[in-house]
Amino acid sequence: MTEFSERVEQVSISGIREVFEAAGDDAINLGLGQPDFPTPSHARDAACEAINEGVADAYTSNKGTLSLREAIAHRYDVDWGIDVDPEHVIATAGGSEALHIALEAHVDPGETVLFPDPGFVSYDALTRIAGGTPTPLALRDDLTLDPATVEEAITEDTAAFVVNSPANPTGAVQSEADMREFARIADEHDVLCISDEVYEHIVFDGEHHSPLKYAETDNVVAISACSKTYSMTGWRLGWVTGSNRRIERMLRVHQYGQACASAPSQYAAEAALTGPREPVDKMVSAFEERRDLVLDELTDMGLEVPTPEGAFYAMPKVPDGWVDEVIDRGVVVVPGDAFGERGAGYARISYATGMEELEDALDVMREATRAI
Ligand SMILES: Cc1ncc(COP(=O)(O)O)c(C=O)c1O
Repeated sequence: MTEFSERVEQVSISGIREVFEAAGDDAINLGLGQPDFPTPSHARDAACEAINEGVADAYTSNKGTLSLREAIAHRYDVDWGIDVDPEHVIATAGGSEALHIALEAHVDPGETVLFPDPGFVSYDALTRIAGGTPTPLALRDDLTLDPATVEEAITEDTAAFVVNSPANPTGAVQSEADMREFARIADEHDVLCISDEVYEHIVFDGEHHSPLKYAETDNVVAISACSKTYSMTGWRLGWVTGSNRRIERMLRVHQYGQACASAPSQYAAEAALTGPREPVDKMVSAFEERRDLVLDELTDMGLEVPTPEGAFYAMPKVPDGWVDEVIDRGVVVVPGDAFGERGAGYARISYATGMEELEDALDVMREATRAI
């Protein structure tokens, strides 16, 4: 009898979905990980044009169209001063596939992968699917990952460590000094650093820094996507960049699993990356205004909230029963332990929702906090 693979039996459907299902239809949903803005019209138009002109009907190169990869490389140069060769980029089905192929190409059964706890749910699941052993790491009080924690946890069996800044679920942004340290650790310990930068443009305080800029070896691969920056989660377009030998190995997984990223989405992504920056600036300003409101209100309710400096999440410490009380009153928030054991006692609040709804939701949280 065909049984299921041990790897797949080790993962389950994300706890976030369960929360959505438990909430009523008219609930205010602060559980979502996607911006509430439309995809910029120039990106939509570029996809429509490509479809109508018949240029999006066929497979593209496995890595993606050269013009998309050039657009991605150009952004690394303009935004972060990082020199990326378009040949060293693979366009993927979102940041998710980029993470998947990075882990598949580098992790052997029995090897460990280190990542932040609380952290994005895919790190644990994709490590297991690759046959590896997840090693979640505790965070600092401000919910950033201490490079020293990573360095102490590295053993002979460590295949990779994941750095995620700005972070989901915490909104924490790693400093330049931390990123330099992560690069040094990757170099000195000869361990791969997978830098998940899907929120790279959504930063309110300080600046985004990538360890890719500081590494002296090829031990850093960076992952990003159009999903969050351009509000394109449904288009499924991300990428990974790394050295030639690493791209070549990741391409093997991508080629057989995906062939290429969706062609219409590649045209939309190219337009998003090369087009006007106003839609991004507008969205980031809106997120910052909401971040300020959420932070003020939660603090005023007496909750302890490390200041989220980026992405669109806040992660307050909450008393026992708070999440259930808030959900019962019609606002969906995600319990922190959906993101790892050390997330227990926290809640993730996504503020990717309009100001009015957010204000109503915060009123509900205030009532729930009082009731507890
Ligand atoms: C930290 C992080 N990495 C990667 C992803 C995956 O993004 P995508 O929708 O591009 O697959 C997400 C999505 O929520 C995320 O929060």
